[in-house]
Amino acid sequence: MKLLKEEILSKGIVLSDGVLKVDSFLNHQINPILSLEMGKEFVKRFHSEDPNTKVLTIESSGIAPAFTTALELGVELVFARKKKSLTMNDNVYTADVYSFTKQETNTITVSKDFITESDRVLIIDDFLANGQAALGLAQIVEQAGGTVSGIGIVIEKSFQPGRQVLLDAGYKVESLARIESLKNNEVRFVDETVL
Ligand code: G4P
Ligand code: NA
Ligand code: NA
Repeated sequence: MKLLKEEILSKGIVLSDGVLKVDSFLNHQINPILSLEMGKEFVKRFHSEDPNTKVLTIESSGIAPAFTTALELGVELVFARKKKSLTMNDNVYTADVYSFTKQETNTITVSKDFITESDRVLIIDDFLANGQAALGLAQIVEQAGGTVSGIGIVIEKSFQPGRQVLLDAGYKVESLARIESLKNNEVRFVDETVL
């Protein structure tokens, strides 16, 4: 997605060979116009999986692109919680998500009220690194008896194993920007010719 790649090149900061900081439009401050375009692009890419009846993400940075995707599809958005909320009862699906980056396991939670066996769920997240968050979300959909129609990612770090992990698990993956390398303080995309 051209607009996203341009934003990454102009505003992204390479923190190390493995980490890209995009706080100015995705992870802290949010660019609403770009977010709307992301939603439209995800809907295009997953059109063949229609009807997508629900969008699922995980708080917090997945919410903006998932919201615009849900808006464009005309369906509701559910975001998994990383900490159980005060008002949540035990009527929940959970999955354990191990973060290699943070070296900790988080239990993510979704109320059973919001995903059912008739749902075809489009999973959206901001980053794909090791794929564990997306896999946890997919496990929750499957616990509910629903179908994962696909996994949409804003920024994929293609030099990490996440994409292959999700493909091996049988899911369709679409990433709006695929980063081949962050070496030498430079962002290189997988398909340079697309920009
Ligand atoms: P995984 O789900 O692919 O296995 O990823 P991992 O555990 O490695 O990621 C943990 C957190 O770090 C996630 O955010 C993820 O989006 C983020 N992350 C991973 N690599 C990068 C990167 O290169 N740049 C940035 N900016 N973030 C990265 P989170 O803790 O869930 O935070 P948030 O959703 O509240 O922002
Ligand atoms: Na994130
Ligand atoms: Na996220």
